[in-house]
Amino acid sequence: MAVQAWFKDDFDEDPRLPHYRNPDEFVSMDQLAELGVLHWKLNPNDYENDEELRKIRETRGYNYMDLLDLCPEKVENYKEKLKIFYTEHIHQDEEIRYCLEGSGYFDVRGKQDRWIRILVKPGDLIILPAGIYHRFTLDTSNYVKLMRLFRGDPVWTSYNRPQEDHPARKEYLQSFLKTGVPLEAH
Ligand code: LAC
Ligand code: NI
Repeated sequence: MAVQAWFKDDFDEDPRLPHYRNPDEFVSMDQLAELGVLHWKLNPNDYENDEELRKIRETRGYNYMDLLDLCPEKVENYKEKLKIFYTEHIHQDEEIRYCLEGSGYFDVRGKQDRWIRILVKPGDLIILPAGIYHRFTLDTSNYVKLMRLFRGDPVWTSYNRPQEDHPARKEYLQSFLKTGVPLEAH
């Protein structure tokens, strides 16, 4: 089953709303794959024994795992963290998130630098490639529990845009956007 994704409208108020365009413009899995964004639908109720998840982790070398329960009681500096998550950034490695409970939006920059909003719900595992500009927000349900996977010792460092000289960014441009031309700063 496909993950739901659409081109976001150009309005900045209340990021927790869906921000469909009018008329709406949905984004297919193939379009996401062209950007290097991968998706699996798994069974979130049995993540501890899930053979499919085990295989993905083994194939891709994701030996590290933790759970991020995004609610004020469980996260230190909750508000600040959410602000950081929603600031456009890249990482030097993939961002791998598996939604176990609740929901939220990952926004990624598509071709022509347009925001694509990806809704993650329980069972959605997504991989954002290293060097893709992205951000995360909760939706109006205000809660998400995410599994974070990583190859080796986790590095969560975010590099805020612009990062056109970052090696991960350069590599991303060459691999996926097939252009050496940097995007303008935002
Ligand atoms: C992030 C959170 C959502 O890293 O896991 O953006
Ligand atoms: Ni990130």
